[in-house]
Amino acid sequence: MFGQLTPANSMKWDAIEPEQNVFSFTGGDQIVALAEATGKIMRGHNLVWYNQLPNWVTYGSWTPETLTSVIETHVRTEVSHYAGRIYAWDVINEPFNDNGTMRANVFYSTLNTSYIGIALRTAHAADPKAKLYINDYNLEYTGPKIDAMVRLVEDLLAAGVPIHGIGFESHFILGEVSPSQLQTNMERITALGLEVAVTELDVRIELPVTDADLEQQKADYMSVVQTCSAVSGCVGVTVWDYTDKYSWISSTFPGYGAACPWDANLDRKPAYDGIAMGF
Ligand code: XIL
Repeated sequence: MFGQLTPANSMKWDAIEPEQNVFSFTGGDQIVALAEATGKIMRGHNLVWYNQLPNWVTYGSWTPETLTSVIETHVRTEVSHYAGRIYAWDVINEPFNDNGTMRANVFYSTLNTSYIGIALRTAHAADPKAKLYINDYNLEYTGPKIDAMVRLVEDLLAAGVPIHGIGFESHFILGEVSPSQLQTNMERITALGLEVAVTELDVRIELPVTDADLEQQKADYMSVVQTCSAVSGCVGVTVWDYTDKYSWISSTFPGYGAACPWDANLDRKPAYDGIAMGF
């Protein structure tokens, strides 16, 4: 039923380069092979993120020069390894705080915003055909975070940095989808000539789950898919795990769960029909 696969963890920095200059592509290679054997495209997730970083990166004593070289080596090696086999890469993941300021992390504190251009240019050189994305959450609502993302894209374009898409993660709480805000924000990005995608859709429910909750969840999934369909330049919807069996939600948001279109027995939930109706 899917047209594309995305690894939840196996292409992240801690999985791919656990020690400096030691690369391990086993998990990533498995999912790419599965995609190719079953006729699906791949989203690569992700290259530069503050989370799931190995300690050697987080706690290294870097100068701007040495950290630039670390980023370039990581991005070049990973993107080259998969060159020609990845439709789009989340090159930069979650660069902003919700108030629109840049997130303090090892990359920003050493290199300021220049780390973003460094990673994007390196990725582009390694696979010129791959679409390069910046991905973040809470871009689904109007406010300072989407404003900051629009400014960042404008600055990158003005500087000639390769950037082709913005990912709207879309980790929603039940009943909190605003289709009008989502559409407005997507169109602010596509107006700049970039594509957009819903990259990590799930709709978490406060436990215990009722039948009414599942109907609301169906409506929420439908309206997200409808919104993407209504925006020319919204190229796809990725769900963040298809089954509640493997979803990250219950461990990350205690008291919440049941966020996916399939339940833990791999039976379809009403959300599944919501997705189908939204296209
Ligand atoms: C999550 C994975 O699903 C979990 O298995 C892992 O323990 C933590 O990361 N935003 C992102 C994703 O961009 O990479 C995160 O994935 C969820 C939030």
